[in-house]
Amino acid sequence: MTVVSVINYKGGVGKTTITANLGAELAHRGYRVLLIDLDPQASLTFSFLDPTMWERELADDRTILQWFGNVLDGDGAASLDRYVLTPSTVNEVITQNGDGRLDLVPSHLMLTDADLDFAANLGGSRFQHGSPRYLPLHRALADALAAPAFSEYQVVLIDCPPNFTMVTRTGIVASDHILIPARPDYLSTLGIDYLRKKVSELVTDYNKVATDGADQISPQILGIVFTMVQYTGHGPLLALRNFIGHPATIEIPRFQQMIRDSKTVFAGAGEQGLPAVLMPDANPNVQYELQQLASEFLAKIRP
Ligand SMILES: Nc1ncnc2c1ncn2[C@@H]1O[C@H](COP(=O)(O)OP(=O)(O)OP(=O)(O)O)[C@@H](O)[C@H]1O
Ligand SMILES: [Mg+2]
Repeated sequence: MTVVSVINYKGGVGKTTITANLGAELAHRGYRVLLIDLDPQASLTFSFLDPTMWERELADDRTILQWFGNVLDGDGAASLDRYVLTPSTVNEVITQNGDGRLDLVPSHLMLTDADLDFAANLGGSRFQHGSPRYLPLHRALADALAAPAFSEYQVVLIDCPPNFTMVTRTGIVASDHILIPARPDYLSTLGIDYLRKKVSELVTDYNKVATDGADQISPQILGIVFTMVQYTGHGPLLALRNFIGHPATIEIPRFQQMIRDSKTVFAGAGEQGLPAVLMPDANPNVQYELQQLASEFLAKIRP
């Protein structure tokens, strides 16, 4: 199993879009994929599930919010399997092609409150390392994914909110890799170096507490994926090329494949319960880019 967090401090850079499309494309190729929505905006959840159904059947006791509640009430360990579901529309398309599957742990709009409870549990918002709950709370998602029920998944993708609160930190601790979607503009690239710094601080702090070698973590940055890229006939707009070159200057890897800007394809994203890469009538250039991104992703996680 490979666990990958999709994160950027900057909002609206395509994190959820990349998570949904990558997950769906991998499942369509036969992989068992689990998506975990850690964002209180729940955009990933509503990319696959009808909001009315979510409200009626899931909101009260079948989302990641209630799971985090169990984590806080217990000693950190809480079983995650009862929060996993298999969205029907996307899986109808996936199963036509093979025995892959795309599962989802849905989010909840009240998840921001869980973050406050977490902070309180650790004795304040500065995450005191001395707290006996530091390790079990940080490891909650990592431990849950280690349960036998999850061994069938080959890839787990975690859609993170654009912040570095406790909920996000549980995602990073559980991850082998980090994938960073970014737009090729000044403000989006600014956040990348800061994110790297925050991840490395978390890893250092955490590993000081996790004295048992088996618990130590070293999530690697898989790469930056540039999204919403505007093209002229000869490649990305000249004005964007500096920013596309930025990761190399700070020695962060980037995916060769970029995803073009296409409101036509992405404006209605989620409405049909199917991501663009599996939509029967989506622009083939965009679909090709999303498929190539999935191939590059597989090559990077299974070198
Ligand atoms: N390549 C693209 N071209 C045009 N629009 C896009 C593209 N990718 C994503 N979008 C649109 O941009 C908006 C933001 O994308 P998305 O929700 O994936 O970003 P995000 O980083 O997850 O945002 P947040 O930080 O709010 O979680 C959405 O409306 C989405 O449909
Ligand atoms: Mg998002």
